[in-house]
Amino acid sequence: MKTKITEMLGIEYPVLMGGLQWISRAEFVSAISNAGGLSFLTAATHPNKQAFVDEIRKCRALTKKPFGVNISMLPELAPAELTMKFVEAAIEEKIQVVETSGRDPAPLIGPLKRAGIKVIHKVTSPKHAKSAEKAGVDAVVVLGYEGAGHPGMDQVGTFVNLPKAVSAVNIPVIAAGGVCDGASLAAALILGAEAVLMGTRFIATKECPVHDNLKNRILDADITDTVIIQRSIRNAFRAIKNEKALTVLELEQAGARIEDLLPHISGKLGLEAMTNGDIDKAVISLGQCAGRIDSITSVFELIPAMVSDAEMRIKNLAARTG
Ligand SMILES: Cc1cc2nc3c(=O)[nH]c(=O)nc-3n(C[C@H](O)[C@H](O)[C@H](O)COP(=O)(O)O)c2cc1C
Repeated sequence: MKTKITEMLGIEYPVLMGGLQWISRAEFVSAISNAGGLSFLTAATHPNKQAFVDEIRKCRALTKKPFGVNISMLPELAPAELTMKFVEAAIEEKIQVVETSGRDPAPLIGPLKRAGIKVIHKVTSPKHAKSAEKAGVDAVVVLGYEGAGHPGMDQVGTFVNLPKAVSAVNIPVIAAGGVCDGASLAAALILGAEAVLMGTRFIATKECPVHDNLKNRILDADITDTVIIQRSIRNAFRAIKNEKALTVLELEQAGARIEDLLPHISGKLGLEAMTNGDIDKAVISLGQCAGRIDSITSVFELIPAMVSDAEMRIKNLAARTG
């Protein structure tokens, strides 16, 4: 399947995985490249530049195909000086594409573009897609409110956000938030996306390096089993509706300050929970589409099957509607 994004990135299928903190490491990222998609090593998982460089080199040893890196500008993930070190690493290691997220990417665009690196910025609204285009990015990921991670404060779902962003900009738009199968891939393409980017669906794969308890929690999940927390600190975050997320919500409702919330929302707790399987002990990102996922598959089956299902659906639609 050829689109502007498959052409831009030199990949087989228009299916990407976003940066997933702690999870998108070399083995997983290279598996997705080898399966014909593309994903991003998360810089903020690493304590320093050298550790990140080592991970990039490890990934390169595991695949001959393109892969990218995610550089988040959220200060709670990495301090600004360390973020600039990650940018240096991406340039020195000749990474082909960087996914930026969390804040205005403008300060990073000059150095990355001068090094010939494609920049894809993740936004949560058509307005931010326009400013990212103006700042010079090559493409945007537009994340709807049903998605995992930080889906913005506007509460606008993919079905409205995506086509509005597509008509607002001239650069390719990648759909994210709620995409998990051939039907949602086909819908995203029809709404004008040039590719999709998923997080939640990729957690429920054989190659994903998290504890089976998290994968099984996804299989058991209903579409109402996620919750938005951190709205009170204007940093909305969609998480599994578990013990920890409900504690955070109660604290917020009782007027807690950011300092009171920090011990509960620390990313380190997430790493521990995903490693030891005690899923209720941390806030863990998850999208609403968890409620539509009913199998744990290999990325080598998932990606081509999604694409051929989408192709079949688009063909059937054309036949059905004459
Ligand atoms: C466990 C988990 C960790 C994530 N970590 C990050 C991250 O570090 N940086 C980022 O930009 N997005 C992060 N995301 C968001 C994804 O990259 C992606 O935008 C989102 O999952 C898409 O929505 P979906 O889950 O409905 O597919 C994370 C998502 C999950 C499920």
